[in-house]
Amino acid sequence: MPGFLWYEEVFKQVQMLRRKDMLGLEEVSAEEITLILETSRSMREIMQRKIKKVPALRGRSVLNLFYEPSTRTKASFELAQKYMSSDAVSVAGSSSSLVKGETLKDTVRNVEIMGIECVIMRHPVSGSAHYLAHNVEASVINAGDGMHEHPTQGLLDMFTIWEKKGRLENLKVTIVGDIRHSRVARSNLWGLQKMGAKVVVSGPPTLMPPDINAFGVKYYHDLEEAAEEADVVMALRLQKERQENGLFPSMREYAQLYGVTPQKISRAKEDLLIMHPGPMNRGIEISSELADGPRSVVLEQAASGVAVRMALLYLLLGGTKEQ
Ligand code: CP
Repeated sequence: MPGFLWYEEVFKQVQMLRRKDMLGLEEVSAEEITLILETSRSMREIMQRKIKKVPALRGRSVLNLFYEPSTRTKASFELAQKYMSSDAVSVAGSSSSLVKGETLKDTVRNVEIMGIECVIMRHPVSGSAHYLAHNVEASVINAGDGMHEHPTQGLLDMFTIWEKKGRLENLKVTIVGDIRHSRVARSNLWGLQKMGAKVVVSGPPTLMPPDINAFGVKYYHDLEEAAEEADVVMALRLQKERQENGLFPSMREYAQLYGVTPQKISRAKEDLLIMHPGPMNRGIEISSELADGPRSVVLEQAASGVAVRMALLYLLLGGTKEQ
């Protein structure tokens, strides 16, 4: 049977997400996350084929709207859209009519009327994805909104761990660094705990959110202690663009205390996974020895991003529209 028909059969069996938007993992159930991870596995199989293309979203139009820089998220959404045969356009905030004073709502309503059914948006303002979702009929996928959430990153991180470990339940995940300003941390804190993982955090107290207890995670000042018996250590990028000055004395001191190095993870499990969402500041957040070492899954995370985003587009848009 030609590969294409085989995937049609797989797609027919997939139950769709019963939601218009993907705005954050705080509002998504464990069942929905499981559906996305299982669908991502089928999508990863498509990615491993010589011809990475299925007609699952033929005739569906999507917009990538990025008001902040991105390499991984933007490239993987664009590839996911191509592999699924959708028609996609990309607009960068800096070259859009935003600079002439057009509002976000007007921008999207003007492209929605052209036939756009899904908007993937990255924006510096927390809550902007929710605002947009309430004001347009198109599905909205949050590709990172300020300090709030980055749900597709959380999903791809969970998918990477799930693929490597075979489960998420009862794994100990240590998240290190700038939790306060990190939308990646928030999505992972919500998502991983919903899936039964035990999450702990470490970093300078000034880079912890004031409501860290509300997430139900334990905070460790000492990274070596936080990483004890860990199955996964995830270093975060210092979100300098969102930080006030003076939150920690110097980069050198940050690297000494919270840079993920072989010594800091010496009490973790032997089969530990080392993660970083990227872009990495080597020598500050993570040593090159670990980032490029055998336990690192940093590049797998980037590859997982395509599979997860293919799955999400399919599950939200509901497949090919019959004429
Ligand atoms: N991890 C992540 O969101 O990377 P980009 O900013 O390059 O998209």
